[in-house]
Amino acid sequence: MSGCPSFERKLQYVFFKRSAQVDNGDDAQAGCNKATKGGTVYGEYLQLDKIVAAQLLQSERKGKKVHDEHLFIVTHQANELWFKQILWELDSVQQIFMKGHVRDERNMLKVVSRIQRIAMIFKLLVQQFMVLETMTAMDFFDFREYLASSSGTQSLQFRLLETKIGVPECQRVPYNRRHYRDSFQGKENEILLKSEQEPTLLQLVEKWLERTPGLEKDGFNFWEKLQANVEEGFRSETRKLDQKPKSEMKKEIMEDLQKRKMVFTSLFDEKCHNHLLSKGERRISYKALQGALMIYYYREEPRFQLPFQLLTSLMDIDAFMTKWRYSHVCMVHRMIGSKAGIGSSSGYHYLRSTLSDHYKVFVDFFNLATFLVPRSWVPRLNPSIHKFLVTAERYDSSYCSEDSD
Ligand code: HEM
Repeated sequence: MSGCPSFERKLQYVFFKRSAQVDNGDDAQAGCNKATKGGTVYGEYLQLDKIVAAQLLQSERKGKKVHDEHLFIVTHQANELWFKQILWELDSVQQIFMKGHVRDERNMLKVVSRIQRIAMIFKLLVQQFMVLETMTAMDFFDFREYLASSSGTQSLQFRLLETKIGVPECQRVPYNRRHYRDSFQGKENEILLKSEQEPTLLQLVEKWLERTPGLEKDGFNFWEKLQANVEEGFRSETRKLDQKPKSEMKKEIMEDLQKRKMVFTSLFDEKCHNHLLSKGERRISYKALQGALMIYYYREEPRFQLPFQLLTSLMDIDAFMTKWRYSHVCMVHRMIGSKAGIGSSSGYHYLRSTLSDHYKVFVDFFNLATFLVPRSWVPRLNPSIHKFLVTAERYDSSYCSEDSD
């Protein structure tokens, strides 16, 4: 064969064509494979030997391999890996806030991006349920008995991320009439306890909101100005309505006006706020609520744009977590109906009770929309605060970045 002239010509042609491609600047194949030079290779770098060998089917051990158990394990593992990434992001954001790096506004972009990333991960996880739902209830039934006493309530990372974001202990639904931490022993229990003592994302954001520029009583004094404008706004609406002839329609509009007025009366009443706080219906301090509302109203001002995005992304986390819970509940209902969960919990019914607002952390930011007012009622920024909100703050190098990664 090697002596065949036509074969040699073909070989030369292929060789020259390849070299010509490289010479012509087509360097797609020109990279150097580090593997041949002893560098870290793909599988080694990613520790794939551990990851892809970690799917131990319990049904297989018991001599009856059930095909879909593999999917069940991989889906849980994928969720847990993403929970790990969420915790990684949460811890970094917590550090930025705790070390005061957030006072350098340039770090706000980092905070917002990481919070947005957490929301996107949850969005992705919601979609992943669709893959697991290709398994039928019968397929699940075939291996459910092998799961023994393992239950999602024992997911340490899930509980950690709930706690770190700010799901309060007192708002949790007891599982099997027991404290949520009782599902964990030893070291895991300690880790959870420690995380409960750290400031939550909600608390850190609350403290940051309390410092919103423009709230100072001896400065712009946003709150007092807003209250004055809102009261004047309602008085003017009432006057206009009083001039109209008596009618059923006028009565209805007046009732609606009174209801709207009540909403704002409660907003400007600190005692009422504290009462709602004690019932868990509001979660942030009175001052922080004022800061959030200020950012909400003046979000178009350059220095409030990123803070506004932060509030939006925090709501996204809540929204996608609720969607995760909802998708999970729907899937559980489809897989086990109303049967008891592991450890004789009410399974589906227990999970359904976790869908309420009790598990929403940033509920106050959702409620900001209740306090929307006509643009003309929003206090006009005076030149000093306006300048402050459009000009970059003098940069304080003590908050500079190297630690804030
Ligand atoms: C066929 C699929 C699934 C079924 C039938 C199922 C069933 C259940 C049930 C019945 C509970 C209530 C507690 C219990 O009795 O064990 C629960 C809780 C939980 N599951 Fe699943 N699950 C499934 C898939 C998943 C997946 C893929 C994840 C992802 C990690 C997951 C994570 C959790 C978590 C974190 C909890 C605790 C929720 C809470 O207490 O708020 N589950 N699951």
